[in-house]
Amino acid sequence: PRLWAVIPAAGSGARFGAALPKQYLKLADKTVIEHSISKLLMHSDIAAIAVALHPDDHFFSSLSCANDSRVLRVDGGSERAHSVANALAALEKAADSDWVLVHDAARPCVSNRDIKRLIELGCAHSVGAILASPVVDTVKRSTALGEIAETVDRKDIWRALTPQLFRYGDLRDALRFCHDQQLLVTDEASALEHCGRQPLLVEGSPRNIKITYPDDLAIAEVFLRGEEQ
Ligand code: CTP
Ligand code: MG
Repeated sequence: PRLWAVIPAAGSGARFGAALPKQYLKLADKTVIEHSISKLLMHSDIAAIAVALHPDDHFFSSLSCANDSRVLRVDGGSERAHSVANALAALEKAADSDWVLVHDAARPCVSNRDIKRLIELGCAHSVGAILASPVVDTVKRSTALGEIAETVDRKDIWRALTPQLFRYGDLRDALRFCHDQQLLVTDEASALEHCGRQPLLVEGSPRNIKITYPDDLAIAEVFLRGEEQ
């Protein structure tokens, strides 16, 4: 089977609150999205990368990666899951049994090592896998009044990161099912979970943060600087 990639990048970055969508902000020597795309382009076994963009996006075309022969531009949707579904549909040559990596444009600090490990372990699993990181804080469940109902055992709680790796046909069908059933899908794994599947958790670096708020950009810059050594 072949390996493909999807980058959802059609969000507006409302929480970040900048004049531009956060994926187009400068981080060290290039924009956030260029870091994320170049991390995937380094893996020569990825046949093509479908990048889902806002239909009115006028930033992407000026980036050098827009001209890469493996990069394909696709219109995103109003929800992240719609953007991913559109990008999958654009990978016309993908077979159902091929694998697809989905990686947030807003995660520029993912390491090559973690991507390789995810591919290795995910392709050996029957469902697929996601990068994840164990929660470090003590976790509480709240009551409706905002009081503590209980402490949740932290040892079973993980933060879901990207990339996430699934069979092309499985992911397409799971997203369609969840859309039809109006089920909440906040990452690709949750779509597969709604179909009764149990993807593998692959422990990745906690440095693989999602740029969400302005402070995250400063933190990412520190992490990227550390990468070069
Ligand atoms: N995304 C997308 N299509 C959407 C919404 C989000 O492709 N309709 C992408 C974003 O561009 C981002 C990734 O999904 O790369 C993760 O989403 P998030 O961090 O929530 O980004 P935004 O939705 O842009 O941010 P916010 O929720 O603060 O508006
Ligand atoms: Mg969002």
